[in-house]
Amino acid sequence: MKLEEFHTKTIIEPFRIRSVEPIRFTTMEERERLLAEAGYNPFLLKAKDVLIDLLTDSGTGAMSSKQWSGMVASDESYAGSSSYYRLESAVQDITGFKHVIPTHQGRAAENILFTTIAQKGDVVPSNTHFDTTRAHVEHAGAEARDLVIEEGKKPRSQHPFKGNMNLNELRKSIQEEGAENIPVIMITITNNSGGGQPVSMENIRCVSEIAHEHDILFFIDACRFAENAWFIKTREEGFAQKAPIDIAREMFSYADGCTMSAKKDGMANIGGFIAMNSDELAKNCRNLEILTEGFPTYGGMAGYDMEAVALGLYEALDPDYLRYRIRSIAYLGDKLTEAGVPIVQPTGGHAVYLDAKEILPQIPSTQYPAWSLNNALYLLGGIRAVEIGTVMFGIQPDGSEKPASMELVRLAFPRRVYTQSHVDYLAEVIISVFEQREQLRGYKIVSGTKVLRHFSASFKPVTV
Ligand code: F0G
Repeated sequence: MKLEEFHTKTIIEPFRIRSVEPIRFTTMEERERLLAEAGYNPFLLKAKDVLIDLLTDSGTGAMSSKQWSGMVASDESYAGSSSYYRLESAVQDITGFKHVIPTHQGRAAENILFTTIAQKGDVVPSNTHFDTTRAHVEHAGAEARDLVIEEGKKPRSQHPFKGNMNLNELRKSIQEEGAENIPVIMITITNNSGGGQPVSMENIRCVSEIAHEHDILFFIDACRFAENAWFIKTREEGFAQKAPIDIAREMFSYADGCTMSAKKDGMANIGGFIAMNSDELAKNCRNLEILTEGFPTYGGMAGYDMEAVALGLYEALDPDYLRYRIRSIAYLGDKLTEAGVPIVQPTGGHAVYLDAKEILPQIPSTQYPAWSLNNALYLLGGIRAVEIGTVMFGIQPDGSEKPASMELVRLAFPRRVYTQSHVDYLAEVIISVFEQREQLRGYKIVSGTKVLRHFSASFKPVTV
């Protein structure tokens, strides 16, 4: 007997589950009450009242048995702990950067970087700044400028690297502002605010060349570096045979440093770091770190957190994991596309983004269509996602409001948490909301702050 080798079409979860966490079912009537009590703001819901939580992929993943065992063996010394050196060695191995400064999460790294190098009158270009990055740039008095390629702003465009930076616009900004007023050029991989879309190696290399031609620092916001590496492997010519870790090494080789939230592709529940080559910059960053985060060999993390990240960075680069990860997002995207639900194409690395502008043309941007769509997902199916639209990005530094360029609902997948049947359920709920879309109405804000208002504002449905 001779059997032919057989390759399945199904890409299975590359793990088995040994510890389970029950999720709680609620009725629609309960959810109506709970959402009203939360001021119609899903951020203010209690997690126990959510059935499937896709608010974020940040810090919400499941850790491996290897990570848990590493955590038990951590070193909690205040200064010079072995856990720090394991983290340093992992980050140096993957990024090649000389200095590794741990922080409690990504935004702390941003705070240290921008407080150290940016000031009033400066401009910080990026493909698209994430909201915390933008807030830190602005907090330092500088302007955060988004220069993603045109295709990156069109939800229906099928460009393989919609996160790419517009190189002409970047050159124009440098010419107009003067290199001396640009302390750093950032690139976010993958481009979270623009649909989780990847950036090509070629684009990273070109941005690096432009930055260095003008003696400007080039930093990568590396939160989802492993997912970006997988897209390069599968979409960019010349990379198919390369291991994700080698692709990651090449990406980082073009930059002078990175900020990192280890809550994403660090596969940890908390943690982050800022890494760089410059001795002078590292010295200045460490001075600030002692003030805001802690001694430079723990910087806001426990020894066990640093162990989890040191191991997690490698797990995120495992090809079997990445194949499953990217496929599980595309699986939902394909189901929705088949049912005619408009989503950002192609699906990104960590999330499916529903195009609320297209789904709800009856709701103007000033009444927050993506917010309304997200609330409907909760009401109908107990699903919590996040608005990435005018509530998140509409407030201008002068306090006025401007419609965001896209109105999206992001369904972000925690890593290694949900299975295929959860995704089938999600598709059913989303399609049902889509079928009832004409019933949906807008919202207005009744109270809230101006900075990062989506976290805390209270809303009311608009009644006409
Ligand atoms: N940069 C990007 C691209 C991010 O997506 C995030 C966080 C940060 C920086 C800040 O990192 O949360 O560790 O302080 N994104 C989360 C999200 C919150 O839901 O996308 P942090």
